Amino acid sequence: MNKKERVKITVNGSTFESLVSRRKSLVDFLREDLYLTGTKKGCGTGDCGSCVVLVNGEARTSCNLPAYRANGTEIVTIEGIATGRRLSPLQEAFVESGAIQCGFCTPGMVMEATAFLKQNPSPSENEIREAISGHICRCTGYVKIVEAIFMASQNITTDD
Ligand code: FES
Ligand code: FES
Repeated sequence: MNKKERVKITVNGSTFESLVSRRKSLVDFLREDLYLTGTKKGCGTGDCGSCVVLVNGEARTSCNLPAYRANGTEIVTIEGIATGRRLSPLQEAFVESGAIQCGFCTPGMVMEATAFLKQNPSPSENEIREAISGHICRCTGYVKIVEAIFMASQNITTDD
């Protein structure tokens, strides 16, 4: 039986109430029910990092989190970190560093790094590499991604 649960989830500042199948993952809920397709689904098993979003401020894979378990949480997706048309400092750094090729891994990387830089605003290169170690990028070789996160750490002020 496909049991459904009523959920109330805040995504990028807007609250949604919905009836969701217990089998539906948070990434599928975001993409299919809310049409927030910025969050990418790669492996679907928690191994590639492409689906990372912020759940109550923590970076978390959303493919292995059932949507009903996110009931009552605050989610931030890649669509929620720009301010109007102004990209976040991390997004800008990814663009400026050329850290994006196909772009499939980028939303997950940016969300991971967003949470990481809040906890560690002045990281070393090794700390950055460790922070993104759960993310697979098939294109860039990671060097420019590490550079972008480092560049953002230099540019982000406490007001950002
Ligand atoms: S799609 Fe979630 S970790 Fe790969
Ligand atoms: S830019 Fe293509 S997978 Fe990372």
